[in-house]
Amino acid sequence: MALKTADRLPTVHFLVCGNTRPEDSPLGRGCGLVGEHVYVALKQEVTQQRATSDVWVTKTACLGLCPKHGATVAVYPARVFYTEVEAGDAEELYQDHAKNR
Ligand code: FES
Repeated sequence: MALKTADRLPTVHFLVCGNTRPEDSPLGRGCGLVGEHVYVALKQEVTQQRATSDVWVTKTACLGLCPKHGATVAVYPARVFYTEVEAGDAEELYQDHAKNR
């Protein structure tokens, strides 16, 4: 293991669940394709706002708060989670957490 310090850290970090489970999973299908769409929409919003160096968007595995619909998004440093997120929520997420970064 090597410790590496980053010269630049994000002021806001969106973690978007893109986890997919098998159809017969008792835990449900996971955020899967919706998570992928949310991830792409958030990346586009951040790029459009020219904030890519300060606002990071990362696709993850299960974040532990699996919704029945939509995807789960965690936001740091706010330390909040959103569930049932759809791609159309990307602009609002950006405005609420990254606009005044
Ligand atoms: S599968 Fe997305 S939060 Fe669990």
